Amino acid sequence: MLFDSITNDIIDKGYSISHYALPDELTTLLLQHITTLPKGNYKRAGIGRAKEHAISDVIRTDEISWITNNSIATCAWIKWTRSLQNYLNRRLFLGLFSFESHFSLYTKGDFYKKHKDAFKGEDNRVLSVVVYLNKNWSVADGGELVIYENESPTAFVADHSIATVMPFLGTIVVFLSEEFPHEVLPSECDRYSIAGWFRLNNSTFNKIDPPS
Ligand code: OGA
Ligand code: MN
Repeated sequence: MLFDSITNDIIDKGYSISHYALPDELTTLLLQHITTLPKGNYKRAGIGRAKEHAISDVIRTDEISWITNNSIATCAWIKWTRSLQNYLNRRLFLGLFSFESHFSLYTKGDFYKKHKDAFKGEDNRVLSVVVYLNKNWSVADGGELVIYENESPTAFVADHSIATVMPFLGTIVVFLSEEFPHEVLPSECDRYSIAGWFRLNNSTFNKIDPPS
């Protein structure tokens, strides 16, 4: 079963790659949804949260559209991620509390340089999830996700990649957000994905988190 193998991978290695694994019905709904989503709905993605938010042509050039429960497809996606969250919480005691996600569109030449989705003590993103929605992707189209080993501060060899993932339709990647630097290599044509993050509850008495 899919959730079981994702969980076992996280326990064994901290990351999980499942090809053609997104349920067919959900994949069909999401594919249909992204073809009807006007390109104007996508905005240049920034780096950093809230106050530090900035647009950088050096780090990432993709465009994103945050997902809300405003359509049959996005509701089905949120429902699926909720069941994954519940499953992981029962098995791993990660205390995953909330989920946020966006559609990403990389057009020709777009990339996202090596980065981490969370930093210890700075953010409360615990687990990253990426799914791909590209029907006829070929190796020549590029746009690979490269996952790197976490550098130890004393290591001499940086850039040691542990996995390269083609963004084929229905492929699911899950990894511990603080542990794995990763990058998206330049894409040769329109590349669609969803990136999402399970987060801890970080609300305090004067700050609701995540900000809505
Ligand atoms: C991200 C990200 C990977 C991908 O949006 O943070 O790393 O393959 N996306 O789209
Ligand atoms: Mn990322």
